[in-house]
Amino acid sequence: MEPKHIAFIMDGNGRWATAHGLGRKDGYAAGLDALKRVLAACVKHKVEVVSVYAFSTENLARPDDEIAAIMNVVKSFNLSYDGDMKIIYMGDIDALDDDVADSVRLVEDRTAGNSQITLNIALNYGAQDDISRACLLSYDHNDFTPKGFEKRLSTAGLPPLDALVRTGGEKRLSNFMLYECAYSELFFLDKMWPDMDGDDVERIFAEFEKRNRKFGK
Ligand code: FPP
Repeated sequence: MEPKHIAFIMDGNGRWATAHGLGRKDGYAAGLDALKRVLAACVKHKVEVVSVYAFSTENLARPDDEIAAIMNVVKSFNLSYDGDMKIIYMGDIDALDDDVADSVRLVEDRTAGNSQITLNIALNYGAQDDISRACLLSYDHNDFTPKGFEKRLSTAGLPPLDALVRTGGEKRLSNFMLYECAYSELFFLDKMWPDMDGDDVERIFAEFEKRNRKFGK
């Protein structure tokens, strides 16, 4: 079986930039190029949804110029994208600067009818925030069933998360999709995100095929 839904924690952009004598800003631009290579490989394998961690609620504590560099990459991607993907966002978009939030709404509207693959971008997202918001909504609707709760997560309606990949050498989830990865296969790669290419995706898929998924049974 191939994964229908795969998530990436795109870590190591800053370290990649430093190792290449570049600024962190260049690391994020190279990170977007890597994402495009990864997406092309996922399209080849008919993956339905790719979720990526572009900016966490905790990343707001980073220096202003670094936040601006990430937001500029995201904004220019949103404004220039004209391909076949459906692009959706999860996270507190309203709390971001108007120009970034507007670009998010625009690209979501513009790509809503696309169906080749869905790119789900986590921006100003934290899983703990998402889970507590879903709890409050379940309370408001007096619906405490697991299905009712899942309906109120940002990932409602997406297929179950089959695999989660983190690049950059760290082995942690950093508040990303904590509820959704209950039965996901986890992959931790030492390479930095901007070095990712289609062959890495092929290797992940080959290993995914070999894993014995038991879902607790
Ligand atoms: C963590 O790596 C990564 C981020 C905080 C942001 C990654 C964002 C992109 C690659 C842009 C993606 C664009 C779109 C449109 C989805 P880090 O830079 O903190 O790495 P480090 O640990 O080496 O410092």
